[in-house]
Amino acid sequence: MLNITIKDQKNLVTPEELSQAMKDAEPILKRAQAGEEKYADSQGWLDLEKWAGEDTLSHIEKLAAEIQANSDAFVLIGVGGSNNAARSVIKALADGSKVEIIYAGNTLSPHALNKMLKSLEGKDYTIDCIAKNFETLEPGSSFRILREAMAKKYSPEEAAKRTICTGTFGSSLEKLCEKEGYTFVPFPTDIGGRYSAFSFVGLLPMAVAGIDIRALVRGGKDMAAQLHETGAEDNLALKYAALRNLYNQKGYVLEMMAAFEPQFSWFFKWWVQLFGESEGKDGKGIFPVAAEYSEELHAVGQYLQDGAPLMFETFLNVKEQDSSLVIHSDGKQDYFDYLNDKDFFEINKAAFEATLTAHSQKMPCVIFDLDRLDAYHFGQLFYFFQFACYVSGEILGINPFDQPGVEAYKGWMFRALGK
Ligand code: PA5
Repeated sequence: MLNITIKDQKNLVTPEELSQAMKDAEPILKRAQAGEEKYADSQGWLDLEKWAGEDTLSHIEKLAAEIQANSDAFVLIGVGGSNNAARSVIKALADGSKVEIIYAGNTLSPHALNKMLKSLEGKDYTIDCIAKNFETLEPGSSFRILREAMAKKYSPEEAAKRTICTGTFGSSLEKLCEKEGYTFVPFPTDIGGRYSAFSFVGLLPMAVAGIDIRALVRGGKDMAAQLHETGAEDNLALKYAALRNLYNQKGYVLEMMAAFEPQFSWFFKWWVQLFGESEGKDGKGIFPVAAEYSEELHAVGQYLQDGAPLMFETFLNVKEQDSSLVIHSDGKQDYFDYLNDKDFFEINKAAFEATLTAHSQKMPCVIFDLDRLDAYHFGQLFYFFQFACYVSGEILGINPFDQPGVEAYKGWMFRALGK
């Protein structure tokens, strides 16, 4: 199970302060554990049985098996919450998957879109247009060009067979599916994009890529049970939520998520969106940023150690070794003999410990330890951060489920394009 430790050599938040903040936020935790009427249209993710129960999992597995049998590639058309959860797991874990997952609907760049279309040449593929609000420009426009590409390659019947849409019941996307004979699967009406990992939105692309979605959901369920059953004193999500709000009150306006494991790179995007879109409102919020170490230590490392005291750091630390590579001497005088016979796992860990010691002299560091990086633990991470984001947003005093700022820019974009 996920474990949290704090390393803060400046003792910015004392243990007493933290436990008082957790006590003060107990009513918020209790409301989150029970679910709130005011957020009824956004909390379908709280109980995983609702959108990731046995019926959904079997349906997804059946669809995924059909796609694996007839496709070399699967195009995930989706942006933001309709893309990030699936992509973070697939990029981290789907090594050597039979079906290549290709991403569309997340850019307006003709260069990137042409590249995406080119990557489909000579391949049989299935597309999945994932959109809760089927008005968003990026997925809508990508869906069009992919329909055009399919019309050139397949008969109308075959193209329809290879088109899936993940949309809400009663939406124009569902109507399009009915009319054109596309396969329709539900985007939960009571879950916003960034909270949709445990539903058709996140799970179907993962299953197509060969991810063990049952293990992922099990991880989410175990985490849900822990967070719903633990009181304020020991609740991990409340601890993290209270802590980051205390840091924020003390002037730390940025949270840097970091890991010494590049497999987390796309998960960072999911986390940045979750917290950025949920909390950045009403002139408030911690700005989420992320860095892949050790590479970024040679870039932003200087600022972190020596720049303005803006941020606290949250590390994801994988404890168990899943890969080994020992470095040997070749007898040449390169002055790296101190590395002789050391495993990169050990070297990477030493770099993590050293960074933690250095950075915690300057800023508070929060460390999440997880045993392994597999589907089960991704499930734990998704549920943990979704729940913590909800609690943290409530402590901050904003609505963690809407995104009025995003809607505002969309309005201006539609105007610019003459919609
Ligand atoms: O989390 C969210 O609500 C957003 O990031 C959406 O997922 C994103 O804007 C895409 O929306 P849609 O799927 O409705 O096109």
